[in-house]
Amino acid sequence: MSEYVIDDRDMPRFKVNRQVMTDPEVFARERDRIFEHSWLYLGHETELRKKNDFKTRTVAGRPLIFARDNTGEIRVWINSCPHRGAMLCREPRGNARFLTCFYHGWSFSTAGDMVSMPGDDSYSEDFARPDLAAPPRVDSYRGFVFVSFDPAIVDLETYLAGATEYLDLVCDQSESGMEVLDGTHEYSVKANWKLLVENSVDGYHAVSTHQRYFEMVLAARGKLDPNALGESRGIDLGNGHAVMAGSPTTEGLFGRPLSEAGTADRAARFDRLRERYGDGWVDRMQGNRNMIIFPNLVIIDLVMGVLIRKIDPISPDYMEVTAWELAPPEEGGELRKQRLDNFLTFWGPGGLASPDDVEALETCQVGYGGRKELGWSDISRGMNKTANSGTDELQMRAWWRRWNELITGEQLPPEQQDELADVLKAPRQSPNPAQATV
Ligand code: FES
Ligand SMILES: [Fe+2]
Repeated sequence: MSEYVIDDRDMPRFKVNRQVMTDPEVFARERDRIFEHSWLYLGHETELRKKNDFKTRTVAGRPLIFARDNTGEIRVWINSCPHRGAMLCREPRGNARFLTCFYHGWSFSTAGDMVSMPGDDSYSEDFARPDLAAPPRVDSYRGFVFVSFDPAIVDLETYLAGATEYLDLVCDQSESGMEVLDGTHEYSVKANWKLLVENSVDGYHAVSTHQRYFEMVLAARGKLDPNALGESRGIDLGNGHAVMAGSPTTEGLFGRPLSEAGTADRAARFDRLRERYGDGWVDRMQGNRNMIIFPNLVIIDLVMGVLIRKIDPISPDYMEVTAWELAPPEEGGELRKQRLDNFLTFWGPGGLASPDDVEALETCQVGYGGRKELGWSDISRGMNKTANSGTDELQMRAWWRRWNELITGEQLPPEQQDELADVLKAPRQSPNPAQATV
């Protein structure tokens, strides 16, 4: 039995040993067994609009260059010079035909080929000019680019399992392909990274932690419909991915109301999407979804905006978080402005929700100072049911079972759950193949 996870189906109860939130050895094992062997989110293709655009970011401790080369192809390079290791790009973003190392001046194309090295007459004619190094695997699903440092890992789509359906629900909201908006939220949290994974799919905390936010929405809307939560379910998507999904009635719950013109624009687009994909699929699109893609990518679609969140473990008690907003390019300027407003008000580092979450997570981490006396956290909510709702904790348990399997080798079966209601499982009808590959 795992020393870290108790999954007792008879009681029933699910507990996680707080040691995993503080122990450097567990942290090192996560690096070796999880981050070395998963598909990890790097960025979205639309972040690189023009040829030779690049961004730099860190994935699993590797500094990476995320670039579009001079033929328009997406490329990923290790951001380290083959000469003696200096970072080739020291800026977070830019556009450059050549990536030139500032240390001794070696220069490379965005396609990774060495272009020049100053004073090359001091090298023999046979000297093999090194090109840039790349992660062994790079792949994308509908614009979401992932890397893996495990050459033998299964293909990305197999890895994503049931998560592809929910990525489709997000991506199909645009007729021309969703795009990441300029601007990035970056913040850090003095807490273990797994606490933000839990928090990102935790419907239970919303009302108590974010009371201030809901008061603001109430003031802006005049009323909140208590039935608006409608049908919601926590769903195990396989391979450690999980989602809490809500029915279209949640549309009225989040954010300040959109203007009349904005609402009409959006309704017209959704009507066109109905023609293309069928009512059931578009109804589902209009519901909310919080998804965790194992291990550290979060997609939150609260109708008012779509958040992409990448969680980077730095040490057992410290993480860095990067977040972007994804939006349909065809929405008008007014709707875009309202969306950005809602995005900032809710998720911004100075907004009305994220700082409350950060505070909650940091106090958990402080609380783990007492783990000798109080060693276990509880994630049992909903284990007595065969239909976990979004405010239960099945989605967290699904993630933790995969974590436990990779860390300890113990395999725990998924929970048996009732079929989803039609409103949460309608398939996409006759997708346009061109659209499906956007
Ligand atoms: S380290 Fe880059 S040129 Fe020397
Ligand atoms: Fe929250």
